[in-house]
Amino acid sequence: MLQKKWWHEKTAYQIYPKSFMDANGDGVGDLRGIIGKLDYLKGLGIGIVWISPIYQSPFVDQGYDISDYYAIDPAFGTMEDMDELLAEAKKRGISIVMDLVVNHCSDKHEWFQKAMENPFGKYGKYFYIREGKDGNPPCNWRSYFGGSAWEKVPGYDNLFYLHMFAKEQPDLNWENEEVRQEIYKMIRWWLEKGIAGFRLDAIINIKKDLRFADFPADREDGMCSAGVMLEHAQGVHEFLQEMKREAFAPYDAFTIGELFDFRIEELEQYIGAGGCFESIFDFAPHVLGGTNHGWFNRREVTPDEFCDAIYRSKRVSQDIGMMANIIENHDEPRGVSRYLPKDGLHDTGKKMLAGISLMSFGLPFLYQGQEIGMTNKQFHDIAEVDDISTHDEYRVALSRGVGKEEALARVSGMSRDNARTPMQWSSEVHAGFTEGKPWLPENENYREINVAQQEGREDSVLSFYKKLIALRTDPAYTECVVYGKQVPVLTELSDFMGFLREGREKTLLVLANYRSMEREAVIPQKVKKIVMDNCEAKDTAAHISDAKEGSSILMKGYQFLVLEV
Ligand code: GLC
Repeated sequence: MLQKKWWHEKTAYQIYPKSFMDANGDGVGDLRGIIGKLDYLKGLGIGIVWISPIYQSPFVDQGYDISDYYAIDPAFGTMEDMDELLAEAKKRGISIVMDLVVNHCSDKHEWFQKAMENPFGKYGKYFYIREGKDGNPPCNWRSYFGGSAWEKVPGYDNLFYLHMFAKEQPDLNWENEEVRQEIYKMIRWWLEKGIAGFRLDAIINIKKDLRFADFPADREDGMCSAGVMLEHAQGVHEFLQEMKREAFAPYDAFTIGELFDFRIEELEQYIGAGGCFESIFDFAPHVLGGTNHGWFNRREVTPDEFCDAIYRSKRVSQDIGMMANIIENHDEPRGVSRYLPKDGLHDTGKKMLAGISLMSFGLPFLYQGQEIGMTNKQFHDIAEVDDISTHDEYRVALSRGVGKEEALARVSGMSRDNARTPMQWSSEVHAGFTEGKPWLPENENYREINVAQQEGREDSVLSFYKKLIALRTDPAYTECVVYGKQVPVLTELSDFMGFLREGREKTLLVLANYRSMEREAVIPQKVKKIVMDNCEAKDTAAHISDAKEGSSILMKGYQFLVLEV
């Protein structure tokens, strides 16, 4: 039995601030834009909002390169705006969660500037600075964004600093107690201000394999993904527990980790009772189809793989803690474009995917625009892409002999910019996001897919999300939806997802026909009531709500049902 937490019943929402709402017409979203949309979020039923980084930054990696942890970047507004946002959110019962990016900072951060002035002084020890091998990097690690993970310290022939991500994102040396104390101080400063907690960026990377040794090359470039060192690094939990003790626990902060590549047998240490975080994101479906040759040739994910990944992950996690269910975020393509077969990319399919995500055991975590079914963008030229990682991957594809057009097509499907186009508020110019020129062009389909168009419509994707979210706090179902055990049923059917949520008093049966053809599904327990139906199928409602144990019901293509049984 999980220990109950205040956030378990909530629904969370991620804001990518550059693209959410621009209040001052400079083409970049800002804090005042967010303030103006708090009522919208409240109306949707959101209780927790995570805002991607708003700290001062040169934006080499869109704010994930922080040059001052204590300042708001002027592009987003001022500290007064932030205080107002916190106060206004509080009035509406919304908790604000910030992004904590402490594996690395920006090369423009004062610490790094000073380290480069004197690599052997105090600040040199804030980073991983090592001697190379005759002017070559200390080891063959490839950064996540391509190229060596080591960059020369300017002015030195054989001295390098480590960067797991871009060279403008030097890794902070967590082995240095002083660095850790600086970080904890900063965390406490923000919690003191009244934020509810943090999303912890790339956090598993803070512990390095300090041998900094070569690993077998995994591509022709002779390098090996820096991520391989995670298999060898030991002791991340000591840092994480210390951070919890010194920074989070005194404020009872909500913490949610971004963790890939962690050892599943350590899940308890992450989110179990006494674990270092409250929650982590469930990336089980998101890592499907990958190879270590780069993501440009990532495979498409089948419905069966998608469903199995969720089942597997719930099987190991639900008795330990509550992970967060996402279908997309600012690093992923749009969930509907990735996980729905092409013939399912319509409102019914989008509602089905929403239903699977929100009815599975976990904290529902929406990404801006997901609630209206925003889709991937069509990129016509690589120059339309802003994202550093997509540009790198495009180069990787070209270097492997893929032609330009084909390379663009391949990176388009997975590009992070799919999710970073402006939020589609209305069919007005630039989707109602800005009165200026948006920093990233909007998706061309904003006239058909936007909030204004869906707001008053009972049958819209947005209305369906609202109903799903409301079910989570509906007194009749809350215990079952939040804590009910997720038990797969009808697993022999392919392109189909069926599971029970077994609460203390109620049981819900969730069925999703993950294909365009109709099909029969055998009902494992007598139906008492239809709770949700994405097809609102009046013609079949009677035969479903009367279905007895062992009888069959006919489900339409992409139909999604929540039945009380
Ligand atoms: C995380 C962020 C991503 C960023 C990276 C480096 O994965 O979500 O956007 O590029 O960390 O900070």
